[in-house]
Amino acid sequence: MKKSTGFSRLSRDEKIDFIARRHFSRPEEAARLLHAYQHSDPDVQKQHDEFIENSLTNFYMPYGVAPNFLINGVNYTIPMVIEESSVVAAAAKSASFWFDRGGFHARVLSTRKIGHVHFLWNGCEADLRDRMPALEGRLRAATEGLGAQMRVRGGGITELELVAKPEIEPGYYQLKASFETCDAMGANFINSHLECFARELRSFVEDDHSLPEADRSLTVVMSILSNYTPECLVRAEVSCPVEALADGDDYTNEQFLAKFLQAIQIAREEPYRAVTHNKGIMNGIDAVVLATGNDFRAVEACAHAYAARDGQYRSLTQAEAVDGQFRFWLDIPLALGTVGGLTSLHPLVRASLEMLQNPYAGRLMEIVACVGLAQNFSAVKSLVTTGIQKGHMKMHLLNILNQLGATEMEKERTKTYFNDKVISFQAVGEYLKKLRGQSAVQILSHIHPN
Ligand code: MEV
Repeated sequence: MKKSTGFSRLSRDEKIDFIARRHFSRPEEAARLLHAYQHSDPDVQKQHDEFIENSLTNFYMPYGVAPNFLINGVNYTIPMVIEESSVVAAAAKSASFWFDRGGFHARVLSTRKIGHVHFLWNGCEADLRDRMPALEGRLRAATEGLGAQMRVRGGGITELELVAKPEIEPGYYQLKASFETCDAMGANFINSHLECFARELRSFVEDDHSLPEADRSLTVVMSILSNYTPECLVRAEVSCPVEALADGDDYTNEQFLAKFLQAIQIAREEPYRAVTHNKGIMNGIDAVVLATGNDFRAVEACAHAYAARDGQYRSLTQAEAVDGQFRFWLDIPLALGTVGGLTSLHPLVRASLEMLQNPYAGRLMEIVACVGLAQNFSAVKSLVTTGIQKGHMKMHLLNILNQLGATEMEKERTKTYFNDKVISFQAVGEYLKKLRGQSAVQILSHIHPN
């Protein structure tokens, strides 16, 4: 196998040509596809190309909206980027349900972000602790220029702490730094600070002649923010009288409440269920995080670590019924930004933020958490009543029909036929086969009887 060199220096068209010839049985067709997904405006395409290395084209995902999200008294339409059929419909259904019951309430509980300089030092811990006030002054002074703008906005370094962890490795320490990053997600801000701290820390020790000579050097292993932000936390909740809970004829308020609470309890105690339960929450959260240009990998990693914070992976949502009042809530760490990163670069991200009334980061945290809660309410409600497949397969039917190359007329007819039937790929395939045996006249007369 020959390694390709200089690929990144090729133009986009050359890269497409190279990839098409090297990896596709029909290179012209592959190249046509890769070109077809590029934006018609070369400036917009260039903008997208510059987000990453070796960009060939764009990968489309549906951009939908879920209306009627009443959050802290404000009515939002939520932009969602997601490929899974039933997610937007489920969010919208839940939003509409809670709109009539007072809406969602959310508040940011804390906004602390953390980073570490991980280092090894063979000296005596007390020697370093004694020097912390002097070191802290030097670290703050060295990063003065980096944080000027953030300080004007009310952010910056909030705490510097020395943490010893000899149980991980003898002589292993962390310089743990806490930050307030205001409306920015803050990754670059934090990492630039940490790298500067690391340089200062090294020279602080080297310059200190009151330390034994052998202790005047330390090894910086790495300097990096932590995507685990349990103190960048938001709570979203809904509540209503138990008698307003059920909206179907097939079950009473009390039956619904009992099963709902049981489902939440199972997800709290049973990790196999908890993972699926939380995945449903992340269906909503990731979709808005993506639409607003935020880092969904960071949000995912953090949410799941938080779900396991007491040593067992558990549900992120909780529910209770006290004195006839149902309450359902989600606590989730969300490190989000509304400035910096993609927020001013990606045209659709700008549109999403405008649709959300240009929120500050804390407001975006509240909105995103409410969508996660709504998504989970919808999923668990379906699970404990009709089952999930009814709504899911109804949305998925269109995907099946598209895979089977159905015409618009066939789609209409199949949707009507499966309205009260169990949908499966095979059943739809068989129905289509039968349908295609019928004449066009028969099909038309079924759709428009008159
Ligand atoms: C599917 O994407 C998500 C659900 O499985 C979530 C859940 O089970 O709670 C429906």
